Amino acid sequence: MRLMVIGGGGREYYIAKRLAKDPRVTALFVLPGNGGMREFASCVDIKATDIEGIKAFAVNEKIDFAVVTPDDPLALGAVDVLEAAGIRCFGPAASAARIEASKSFAKALMQKYGIPTAQSRCFEDMEEALAYAAGCPLPTVIKADGLALGKGVFICRTREEAAEAVRELLSGARCGESGKRILIEEFLEGLEVTMLSLTDGRTLVPLVSSMDHKTIGEGGVGPNTGGMGVIAPNPFYTEDIARECMERIFLPTVRAMEAEGCPFSGCLYFGLMLTAAGPKVIEYNCRFGDPECQTVLPLLKTDLLDAFLAVREGRLSELPIEFEDKAVCCVVLASGGYPGSYRKGLHINIDPAAFDGAELSVVHAGTRLTSAGYATAGGRVINVVAKAQRLEDAVAMAYNGAEKVKFEGAYYRKDIGASAIRNS
Ligand code: AMP
Ligand code: GLY
Repeated sequence: MRLMVIGGGGREYYIAKRLAKDPRVTALFVLPGNGGMREFASCVDIKATDIEGIKAFAVNEKIDFAVVTPDDPLALGAVDVLEAAGIRCFGPAASAARIEASKSFAKALMQKYGIPTAQSRCFEDMEEALAYAAGCPLPTVIKADGLALGKGVFICRTREEAAEAVRELLSGARCGESGKRILIEEFLEGLEVTMLSLTDGRTLVPLVSSMDHKTIGEGGVGPNTGGMGVIAPNPFYTEDIARECMERIFLPTVRAMEAEGCPFSGCLYFGLMLTAAGPKVIEYNCRFGDPECQTVLPLLKTDLLDAFLAVREGRLSELPIEFEDKAVCCVVLASGGYPGSYRKGLHINIDPAAFDGAELSVVHAGTRLTSAGYATAGGRVINVVAKAQRLEDAVAMAYNGAEKVKFEGAYYRKDIGASAIRNS
């Protein structure tokens, strides 16, 4: 089987590396990939957003199956274009990817089908939005409608902050076109849980729960990032909560998408808040989270290619999906300055003896390969992923591993998993 993985972050590194070990895979291409992926796949210099370029490559190389995981190509219709060219894909069609690409679409869906979420109103007009923000309860949450690389959400505690957020978004100054429509919503209090799931449009299988750490600073301070570290499972996600989420959120979402004529096939990501009034949806993503993917999938015992194929063929109900009863911790090593501006091209030193590749491994995210070895090439550079029987041990192992990776200005949070260990 000739496979293609679109993207070049830590998520795609993990997926491609695992698929590369499958004896059925006779060729594996990643577009564009990253430095570390050259060890097990052919990196092709085509951007993940160059949909026509991707299609031409896939047709030319007689690709049998494509895995599309980044949000941009999904929203741009990469799966629609590839499937129309006869190439089977893991990932949702653009109509289903709207569940992430348009927060107003997702909100209207939840309102229509009674799926618990924060109350919210949608605005495009500056005067109307400012008038509403001047009177709504505080704190309030103001969000760009479209994709915004984690920069589209403002938690506003004062009227001034709320007015400023409305102006920055609706003027286009902050997120361009993505911010020209906004949601002003109720602030939810509680613990956050990420639930990844596989769905073929009818059957939904939740994967292991996880906890992302989104802010750059320890203890939840500073600006949001794409995610600075994850633990799985999330100890606050109990069996009772899981049952409630399945009944009130997960299955209703899958049914709603089907009823709206845009069945969702792929990985559906539920960003949940465990509030005093029960679990509520903060956001949907139309893909695996990064770094949730490389934290949760190491617990999946089922063959990954079988799972992807079952999703694509609509036979997920026939495939047993099994997990290891262990814990995983992923620590993200970022470039100094991220999520603001940062330098690139800095040499990365990894002590290979420190990593066994099974219980403790390095995942490349923003790296490239130079004649002198690996160099930094992005904000989130390397992930260290550790698996152990107990969460405490996984966290300790991940931090030992993080010390064995060096580059100038390397930054990582020291508290990944700390609140989970403290409170569980
Ligand atoms: P999002 O991009 O929608 O996931 O939002 C980023 C982060 O903002 C979330 O992980 C939450 O921590 C926070 N957030 C978003 N919406 C709300 C809300 N309605 N109430 C409280 N926090 C929120
Ligand atoms: N880590 C959060 C995301 O991938 O959206």
